[in-house]
Amino acid sequence: MTLHGQRFVPVIVLDHAARAVPVAEALQRGGIRCAEITLRTTAGIDAIAALRDLPDFTVGAGTVLTPDDVDRVVDAGARFVVSPGLADDVVERALARGVDVVPGVATATEVQRAVRLGLTRLKLFPAAQLGGLGLIRALAGPFPDVRFLPSGGVNPANAADYLADPNVFAVSGSWMATRDLIAAGDVAAIERLSREAVAAVTR
Ligand code: 3PG
Repeated sequence: MTLHGQRFVPVIVLDHAARAVPVAEALQRGGIRCAEITLRTTAGIDAIAALRDLPDFTVGAGTVLTPDDVDRVVDAGARFVVSPGLADDVVERALARGVDVVPGVATATEVQRAVRLGLTRLKLFPAAQLGGLGLIRALAGPFPDVRFLPSGGVNPANAADYLADPNVFAVSGSWMATRDLIAAGDVAAIERLSREAVAAVTR
């Protein structure tokens, strides 16, 4: 899958598409080579388009809620699609468009439905509120082939623990490139927080 080998998937909310490249380059300097650009702002589509040709960087889209959203983000250059929840039509459109899709799940019922759609890489959202690693380990019993992307409440204090679990393929979150840091243009902080995140799991 496109996200293979990526251990951090930053969730990026951009108010101005012009910030996309400086933010992505700061992530890269810190050792992170992908980002999920959310559709929570109108700048999202233009930001994805701005990043589609950035070398050694994988741009995806988040907060993808409808099949039309899938078409818009794929047309803009997104190589993976993330949703907060599980919608069959979104998954099917993403698969038809040939991009990876990582829908959110919160229950065993949703994991089961996602598996029947052919997926084994799922976002757990909102991870902290749902029970974090405890829930992931419980779900791994009946679904040993599923690997999770916990998102929501992942932070520097718990990211390494999540990533040490064999049922977790990557973690997602906004802490290394918050909306405030992006708005302030503080690329130095984004680079530093990214580097610290990567260092915490490689030592
Ligand atoms: C989200 O969808 O907002 C992400 O899961 C990020 O959550 P976080 O802001 O708690 O990292």
